[in-house]
Amino acid sequence: MCGIIGYIGCQNAADVVFKGLKRLEYRGYDSAGIAVIVGNKLQIRRSVGKLCNLEKELKRDPINSNIGIGHTRWATHGKPSEENAHPHTDSTNSIVIVHNGIIENYAELKLKLQKEVRKFSSETDTESIVHLIKKHYDKDLFKAVLKTLKELKGSYALGVICKDEPNKIVCARQDAPLIIGIGKGENFIASDVSALLPYTRNMIFLENGDVAEITEDKVVVKNIENSIQSREIKNIKWNAMQSEKNGYKHFMLKEIFEQPRTIEDTFRDRIYPDDGKVCIEEVKFKEEDIIKISSIYVVGCGTAYHAGLVSKFLFENFAKIPTEVDVASEFKYRNPILNNKVLVIVVSQSGETADTLAALRLAKKNGCQTLAVCNIVGSSISREATYTIYTHCGPEIGVASTKAFTGQLAVFYMLALDLASKKRTLTNKELKRYLKELWEVPLKVNKFLSIAETVNDIAKFFEHKKNFLYLGRHVNYPLALEGALKLKEISYIHAEGYAAGEMKHGPIALIDEFMPVVAIAIKSKIYEKIISNIEEVKARGGVVIAIAHDGDKKIASKSDHVIYVPSTDEFISPIITAIPLQLFAYYISVSLGCDVDQPRNLAKSVTVE
Ligand code: AGP
Repeated sequence: MCGIIGYIGCQNAADVVFKGLKRLEYRGYDSAGIAVIVGNKLQIRRSVGKLCNLEKELKRDPINSNIGIGHTRWATHGKPSEENAHPHTDSTNSIVIVHNGIIENYAELKLKLQKEVRKFSSETDTESIVHLIKKHYDKDLFKAVLKTLKELKGSYALGVICKDEPNKIVCARQDAPLIIGIGKGENFIASDVSALLPYTRNMIFLENGDVAEITEDKVVVKNIENSIQSREIKNIKWNAMQSEKNGYKHFMLKEIFEQPRTIEDTFRDRIYPDDGKVCIEEVKFKEEDIIKISSIYVVGCGTAYHAGLVSKFLFENFAKIPTEVDVASEFKYRNPILNNKVLVIVVSQSGETADTLAALRLAKKNGCQTLAVCNIVGSSISREATYTIYTHCGPEIGVASTKAFTGQLAVFYMLALDLASKKRTLTNKELKRYLKELWEVPLKVNKFLSIAETVNDIAKFFEHKKNFLYLGRHVNYPLALEGALKLKEISYIHAEGYAAGEMKHGPIALIDEFMPVVAIAIKSKIYEKIISNIEEVKARGGVVIAIAHDGDKKIASKSDHVIYVPSTDEFISPIITAIPLQLFAYYISVSLGCDVDQPRNLAKSVTVE
């Protein structure tokens, strides 16, 4: 998704904005640009491709100013090109804008504007906005923006500056995240927290409909009707280091290795194994609320959806609540049966995924109780859900979600056990057993990570394969889907996750020596079934990489390679089997020289539908 940065203060704006854009790179982009005001002129530098190209432009022709805006573009309207790169100006080069989101009525606006605007210089929806601001401009940028916003339909996070008012930035947000960073004698705007952490941890999360005017020492937030809005300044606990690689080659590898701590942080002060108790501060379900819940919908996208698929086993086996899981982009269009007896849980690391946000709104419109599982404080989804349970993972920069996934699983374990405890569908003894298993997970993950290189040794045999099958059963079937997603999204190798029992209904036709199979074969009630599936693959000349529990003597004779993980209860196993799947994909991607942290075509947070 696009990234926005703005700065006004005593530092060199081009420098601050460029560094901010670097910290937003992980969001995914195809071009970038910066605009500043020098004297009473706009100075703009734009380039296609990576930020290093923009850096060359800035070095070739430096710009020194105390006010500037910048943008990394993830193309929605118009191909990646210098002309379509932001920032965009009006035809008199007086006003310049950066925008994240989609203006749904831009074509209609463009048609109307073309009577006054001789020539549009780009194919973007954004350019219609800046011409409209110019049309409304009468020596007051803030008012011109207010008038413009009333004509826009769609989503936007905007930053606007004007050469005739060089001491202010005007910004606005509707369904696309925008944050104001509060400094000393300087202020910032950005698409997300990580861009501003080196400068400030004091941030204002703008709400939908907010329009703000920012000078170097003042921030005024109003709504579209021009009335003052009071917005809390939140102090972000993350530090800049947490957003850095800390010596790891890639953010993804760092985040894989952070999981013992992030899982523990997510459990901390919430589970009490000795008492068999769960206490999630953020959720104040009353007994009558829980008894009223007739069913649960869990909705998310990609990896978050896979976490939801695991939760189905937990809610149904622990709390005996019928649970459906859906991808958000399907949920909102298939007329789900929703009412006040349905609990809708939306899962989203970023809290900004447009499809998931739309699903949440549909649930609220139908009177459902809503609960979000999020990693970003103050994100749109966390602000609109009735309850939010935060994963305590810190910023996840790698586009491929890893620690957020195990953080989401950790939350689902706690929530399902909490519901089971309140509904008395598990005995206290069972609760204590599961909670003790959960509390041991960080140690077990740490133990496995100490032999991470064994995964790399196996990955080396498979880096040139063109296709993979991932097989799992029961609570590890979603992990087969997740393992396949990890591999395909960062190595561009086609991989498919499948319920192992389905092999004989089609996929087994694919098996030969060129189609390696990753099989999750941890000890479980249906262990023998997955062994049979592995034998079916081997009988047809297939190659099998098994993920099995430590001490499993049988598996080695059935498979070509075995990745051993610490044993745990079957229901708890997904939070551990996720780790080798993440590492396997990572090592193959690195050996292929792919862009692990910013895979092609992908964005960290998909804020458009
Ligand atoms: C997962 O590795 C992908 N990056 C992607 O599928 C991601 O999980 C999905 O876009 C949902 O993002 P969210 O959790 O921020 O809503």
